[in-house]
Parts: sequence; structure tokens; C-alpha cells
Amino acid sequence: MKIRRAVIPVAGKGTRFLPATKEVPKEMIPIINLPMIHYVVEEAILSGIEQVVFITSSGKNAIEDYFDRKFELEDFLIKNGKLKELELVQQIGKMVEVTSIRQKEQLGLGHAVLCAKDIVGNEPFAVILGDEIVRGPNPVTKQLIDVSTKNNNANVIGVMEIDPQETYKYGIVKGNFTDAQKKTMRMTTMVEKPKPADAPSNLATPGRYVFRPEIFDALKVIPKGVGGEYQLTDAINLLAKEGEVYAHIFEGARFDTGNIEGYLNATIEFALMNKDSEEMMRRLIKEKVQKYNIR
Ligand code: G1P
Repeated sequence: MKIRRAVIPVAGKGTRFLPATKEVPKEMIPIINLPMIHYVVEEAILSGIEQVVFITSSGKNAIEDYFDRKFELEDFLIKNGKLKELELVQQIGKMVEVTSIRQKEQLGLGHAVLCAKDIVGNEPFAVILGDEIVRGPNPVTKQLIDVSTKNNNANVIGVMEIDPQETYKYGIVKGNFTDAQKKTMRMTTMVEKPKPADAPSNLATPGRYVFRPEIFDALKVIPKGVGGEYQLTDAINLLAKEGEVYAHIFEGARFDTGNIEGYLNATIEFALMNKDSEEMMRRLIKEKVQKYNIR
């Protein structure tokens, strides 16, 4: 079945980026000249998504505004002959249909996804978290949609192998592989942020999911979980008990942009991956290596 909508929770406070996030939503902090949310929405569009549903909170209007038209700016660019910039700005305004819902209290990721219930209705949908950006020739959400389609429209979670010492940062899954290439597994259980000693594997989700609408029934009945929050992981576990949840080891380079180190890493690497900035970044790195005697 066609997956038309992606739910993108953006209500978080972005405390790891304070004080920048005092006034600017974390999602609007740029990597080169595109805000982080641009890369995430681009992944959705390249995966065939037609409507993005942002779960927002107060102070986050800039995200919706970014994907809207901005006629004053367009006028200004026309009057000043800046036609290349005009095209860029206009393209973003036409990228995708955007809807948003306010999450009035931040009660956890599970609660955030449940807020989308009325808009999503009785259709499968994707959930994409913006803290991690995944890049590669085949967008990760598209990979999950394909696995879902192949498996009778099952729920699918995107997973990646991580350093076993870092399990405490992620939802960790366990399951049994269903293909010879050992890329797709039927999930048996998922644990939210386990200590390395308690982790059932080193397969973690960076926040990419495809769900059937039954996830909403599960989200309605779960109690508060880890950290006193309604955890999406707990609802996924309920679905795994009752029906079919698959986990798929996706292909692509992922960048953990939810913290400063990951953000710096993505900035350097994206600049090297982009033909307009590659030369500049190479020169800058060379200069810094010499100036600061980096070995
Ligand atoms: C959330 C999820 C977790 C997932 C992570 C990916 O945690 O609960 O399962 O692995 O996103 O970023 P958060 O980082 O929002 O605490």
C-alpha cells in the first residue's frame, strides 16, 4: 500500500544546542546552508511521501514557515535580480504539503506519534526522527517501505549496527533473520536504551519506522516507560507480540546530528560531499592541520 504521510516529531527543546535553541528550533540549525530539517524532509520526499505531519510545540513556527512560500522575500529577490536564490527559495516553498499538530505536553515519543492519529487516520505511515540524518543513494524510509510492501504491509523498523557500548542511547532490537543476506529480521523484542550488559543485540534504530495504523491502538494502552515517558518502543513491542514487526538493516551513511560532535562531523562531511563546497573544505582542513599541528 502506498505510504503517503510521514510524521516528524519536532517538539523537543534541543537542550544540547543551548543557547542557540533558546530562540531557534534545533531543527532549523543549518548544516552548510540547509537547516537540518531540510535533509530529513528531503528523505521523506525521495521516499514518495506526499504530506509531512510535524508534531510541534510552542516556539517551533519557523519549521513550518520554512516550508511555506515567502512572498516578501521572493519580491525582494526578483527586484534585485537574484534569480538563482529566488529559484532556491521557491523550490522549498513547493517541496511538500505540510501540516502540523501541537503536542501540548512533552510526554514522550510515543505520545508525540499518537498526536498524529486523527490526521493519519486508517492508513500506514512513516515516522522519521530528525536527530539523525541518513544519506545514500536509496533513502532509508524508501528502503523500509519496500520491505513493508514485500512483507504484506508489515510494520518495519530501520536498524543499524552500533558500538555495543552505546546501546543506552537507542531502542535496541532482537529478532530472527528472514533472508539469506541477513538484512531483514522478524523482530521478537525491542528494549529502550538498555545498558550494554542488558542489551539484546547491537542493532539500534536511529528513528526510522513504517507503521500500520494499529500502532495507535498500542500507543493508547501503553503505560509510561523508561524515563517516565510514553515510549514508542513499548508500543512496538506490543505489536511484535500480536502481529508482525520487521527490522531491516538499512544501507546509508548516518550522521548523529543530535549532539555537537555529530553535528560537527556532519558539517565537515556534507561539505566534502557537496561539489560546491568540497574544494573549500579540503583547503580549510589542510590549513587547520598545519596551523594547529594536528597529527
Ligand atoms: C528515540 C527513541 C529511540 C531511538 C532514538 C533515535 O530516543 O526512543 O528508541 O533509538 O530516538 O534517535 P530519544 O533519542 O528521542 O531519546
